[in-house]
Amino acid sequence: MANEMTYRRLGSSGLKLSTVSLGGWTTYGQTVAEQDRVTRLIERAVELGVNYFDTADVYANGKCEEVMGPALAGAAPRHHLVVASKVFGKMSDDVNDRGLSRKHVLESVDRSLDRLGLDYLDIYFAHRYDPETTLEETVEAFSDVVRSGRTHYWGTSMWSAAQIAEAVTFAKANGLVAPVVEQAEYSMLRRERAENEVLPVTSAKGVGVVVFSPLAQGMLTGKYDGGVPAGSRFAEFESFKERFFSDENAARVRALKDVADDLGVTRGQLALAWILRNSNVTSVITGATRVEQLEENVGAAKLSLTDDVLARIDRALI
Ligand SMILES: NC(=O)c1ccc[n+]([C@@H]2O[C@H](COP(=O)([O-])OP(=O)(O)OC[C@H]3O[C@@H](n4cnc5c(N)ncnc54)[C@H](OP(=O)(O)O)[C@@H]3O)[C@@H](O)[C@H]2O)c1
Repeated sequence: MANEMTYRRLGSSGLKLSTVSLGGWTTYGQTVAEQDRVTRLIERAVELGVNYFDTADVYANGKCEEVMGPALAGAAPRHHLVVASKVFGKMSDDVNDRGLSRKHVLESVDRSLDRLGLDYLDIYFAHRYDPETTLEETVEAFSDVVRSGRTHYWGTSMWSAAQIAEAVTFAKANGLVAPVVEQAEYSMLRRERAENEVLPVTSAKGVGVVVFSPLAQGMLTGKYDGGVPAGSRFAEFESFKERFFSDENAARVRALKDVADDLGVTRGQLALAWILRNSNVTSVITGATRVEQLEENVGAAKLSLTDDVLARIDRALI
């Protein structure tokens, strides 16, 4: 089934990512805590053609990196994989163990590499913008992480369009390494920020976009049509349920069923293909607690949607 996957360039960089990728937030080292379950999911993802795997130091307070590392090492040769981690969030009560200061960025990349058991990352993300560190200090620190060989590329996550543009301009003007990717939230249920703010600026700057929570944390699959199943994301995390589980969203997701049925696909596949209709999006980073979810989600990679279908989707989302 590896030929079901498609690959896209990350912005104007030469790096190619699978259009459907896999991340470990709230899952690996947490709701999916056992190493053998994580290993099985990552091995299956590689078999299905996924090459990009996403984690962060703060996911399960380091445990996500600790379980994804051995799983990745066993699943494929290192050159096959695109491994990303992130820095910004608070890792301890120490006043300097957070943010994007030069100290925290340079120390954190080594700790992430230790937990993952890797010699280098492919992408290192600034997980959020740090208003308590100057942009210049942050860009220089990430540039040095790249130049030291600990990561091949660096990127931003949930930075404003103006912050991304300023980082690229500052890096280029000063002979530093510029960010090549923004990791942004984007889904049928949360589209305004990505479509109106992020995508216009990133494409103009040659910065790639990878998308998180493309299924609105599972809401768009229809799994919550009849309420909240035991063990699901919304059963485990009340705050995420509050974010998406409303009568309006439930009606939208129900309305999408006819569109998906007419195409012979699932609503999850429709939701992922809808994001990938945008050629400036490189990859949708999905989450999966079960192999069947992964297999279903990868089925979106080659699905293209006609203008007629896109218009039907827009009507369903009103
Ligand atoms: N940069 C950031 O700030 C940031 C923020 C959030 C996420 N991320 C990244 O993006 C990744 C994905 O985020 P996400 O987990 O929210 O993505 P998502 O794909 O929108 O949601 C994934 C969850 O939906 C459910 N699901 C997935 N496929 C399904 C299917 N086919 N059928 C039924 N249920 C299905 C599973 O949850 P259950 O089985 O538990 O119900 C799964 O864990 C994260 O792992 C992380 O790497 C980054």
